[in-house]
Amino acid sequence: MGGEIRHFIKCIECGMEYEPSPIYRCGRCNGLLEIRIKLPDRNILLSWKSRAFNVWRYRELLPVDDYNMVVSMDEGGTRLLNLDRVGESIGKSGFRLFLKVEGDNPTGSFKDRGMTVGVTKAREFKYTRVACASTGNTSASMAAYAARAGLEPIVFIPRGKIARGKLSQAIAYGATIVEVEGVFDDALRKVFDYVAKNKVYLLNSINPYRLEGQKTIAYEIYEQLGKVPDYIVVPVGNAGNISAIWKGFKELFEIGVINCLPIMVGVQAEGASPLAKAYMEKRSFKPLEDPRTLASAIRIGNPVNWPKAWRAVEESNGFFLTVSDEEIVSAQMKLAREEGILVEPASASPLAALLKNQDAFEGNIVLIATGHGLKDPDILMKWPYKTGSI
Ligand SMILES: Cc1ncc(COP(=O)(O)O)c(C=O)c1O
Ligand SMILES: [Zn+2]
Repeated sequence: MGGEIRHFIKCIECGMEYEPSPIYRCGRCNGLLEIRIKLPDRNILLSWKSRAFNVWRYRELLPVDDYNMVVSMDEGGTRLLNLDRVGESIGKSGFRLFLKVEGDNPTGSFKDRGMTVGVTKAREFKYTRVACASTGNTSASMAAYAARAGLEPIVFIPRGKIARGKLSQAIAYGATIVEVEGVFDDALRKVFDYVAKNKVYLLNSINPYRLEGQKTIAYEIYEQLGKVPDYIVVPVGNAGNISAIWKGFKELFEIGVINCLPIMVGVQAEGASPLAKAYMEKRSFKPLEDPRTLASAIRIGNPVNWPKAWRAVEESNGFFLTVSDEEIVSAQMKLAREEGILVEPASASPLAALLKNQDAFEGNIVLIATGHGLKDPDILMKWPYKTGSI
């Protein structure tokens, strides 16, 4: 590959088209942007089969023209495990649960899929510095990929509000840490301001290139399951990932690899559910000032990508659900103690939602476990456990 430009940028609101460039919103209407790829035909499946199982297996569907520029750590190719013991405990027939274990990624979350593309674009666009606001995982991932590319990472985080595992990663990978008073949404405002005034590439999920990497979750699920699942259940924070996964499935459909689409289900924590509540109450979206949940990864009051996520759920005949912090922790413990899989609190919210709304689901259900359990050790140390003397 090389030379030929296979993609352009398009505004999801007014349809305005842009050449590949470092832009984050439509210059005409301020709408969100998405990448449009010139899709190959369905024979592409054969090329995929001969390659390693990682994000770049799907390179024809990724917006990078020169493959030699790619900054990669063999991200993606994560496990899709069955949850048969949890499924049995639910005791419903015609019901099979799977977990996509995104904690398998190099820095322990799905963000690495986005960063391999995003940091590659930073390099292509000739930036030397990259920045993001983060509830933790984005900063850890961006810092690692920046280190690997020889770029300078700057992360804006809400002071005292990110899990220790994640902050320690960002420090270890050499990021400059800017602590902001308030919540994630305040940090995001600050970083928008900062990149507007400085030559720094923004790698939050408003960056449409980043979401392209994340859509590979859909391709992998299809290949691992050998078919399209009936439901995909995703934790929703800034609402990028659910939008990316839906885009991935839609592209497989357009290419003719699949002939049906999954139902997308977005899950938010009760105290941080501006999007889920607006959708469920059939009213327009309104940001929330003071989001609260122990699942710090999804403690977001003004999800930037909400229009994309809203469309993903609507187009797929899906729905949003909310879960309490108690339900999240209880699902997190169930996964650890009945299946041996440790995920962080936000990543347990899909199981919590399913356990709470069993009749809303049937068939093959894939829960997206977005991040590793060791990201937030302080939560785990509060769990009850058995002691013994031998
Ligand atoms: C572990 C985890 N789960 C879910 C999310 C939410 O993803 P999104 O912001 O794309 O909705 C995040 C984002 O930080 C995360 O770190
Ligand atoms: Zn526009």
